Amino acid sequence: MSPTGNVSEVLIKTKASTSRILIGESIENLGNYVSGRAILLVDKNVQKLYKDFFKNYDRILIEPGENSKSLDGLKNIYGQLLEKGVDRSWFIIGVGGGVATDIAGFVASTYMRGLRFGFVSTTLLGQVDASIGGKNGINFEGYKNIIGVFRQPEFVICDTEFLKTLPGKELVNGFSEIIKYSLIADSELFDYLDSSYESILALEPSSTHRVIKRCVEIKADIVMRDEKESFERRKLNFGHTIGHAIEKLSGISHGMAVSIGMVAALRISRAVSGLKKEDEERAVSLLRKYGLPTDFSYGIDEIMGAIRKDKKKEVDSIYFVLLEELGKSVIRKMKFRDLKKVLDDLC
Ligand code: GLY
Repeated sequence: MSPTGNVSEVLIKTKASTSRILIGESIENLGNYVSGRAILLVDKNVQKLYKDFFKNYDRILIEPGENSKSLDGLKNIYGQLLEKGVDRSWFIIGVGGGVATDIAGFVASTYMRGLRFGFVSTTLLGQVDASIGGKNGINFEGYKNIIGVFRQPEFVICDTEFLKTLPGKELVNGFSEIIKYSLIADSELFDYLDSSYESILALEPSSTHRVIKRCVEIKADIVMRDEKESFERRKLNFGHTIGHAIEKLSGISHGMAVSIGMVAALRISRAVSGLKKEDEERAVSLLRKYGLPTDFSYGIDEIMGAIRKDKKKEVDSIYFVLLEELGKSVIRKMKFRDLKKVLDDLC
């Protein structure tokens, strides 16, 4: 069906499929996007808050948190699908944040060699990043998303009403990725995030809609050019190489770790790709406005140790995303020893 009212639709067209991202659509209209029998894979916290809505659907509950993205978590879900008699004619719908949609996409892509699937994304991080773009995976042996598939959901409903009940720290995770999009691809978005931060932080509806839509457009553009991350999609990892290392070492949330990773990448950009000091300062100050940490005070050796174990590394180097200016990113292959030297010089 065509979306109505204040719903914006962004399409991700790839060789195999078209994925419809519906910003501002309501979960109430889920039935309009699904054909055949449906089963929901729902985050337990979302189910608790919106239980009346879910009572009419077959569903499997997912424990919140990264631990669910495991082989044991999958085993439990495959078992329940078999018990409920789910077959290839069914439609799987993941409802929740990145954990629920990652699991639902992976299960839907593997159970009985693949069922149709879609998502209702309920977190800011999910709506701008995790549920968009067709990466579906689970963690294994301490490596994040190391087992997974690329497969686009038929639709992603980004129901912004859910954001009203999202804990503050979850919102902050989303803002980190939103700022990332502005830094890598859109200086106008950067200016808007900077000038309108009060209404954006207050989740004023038109600002929220505008920001999510723009982030989805940027991601859709990149994914359509490079779905399988041969090159350009790496730009979406800005701040993530060092961010993931910090997340692993310190246990702080993804968004916060990525914020610190972006601060490090901004510093490296000044040294390597010509980013101006005033642009670095503006970017750091924007991260602070959104309540994100910017203090880069981790041991370089520890960070380098974790980067050397990054699943995206090559033998002695890693692709690193840098900025030339606000809104303009480049991908550079950097040898570990050069990266270490730049970090040593900077810190
Ligand atoms: N979150 C990074 C990507 O989707 O490629």
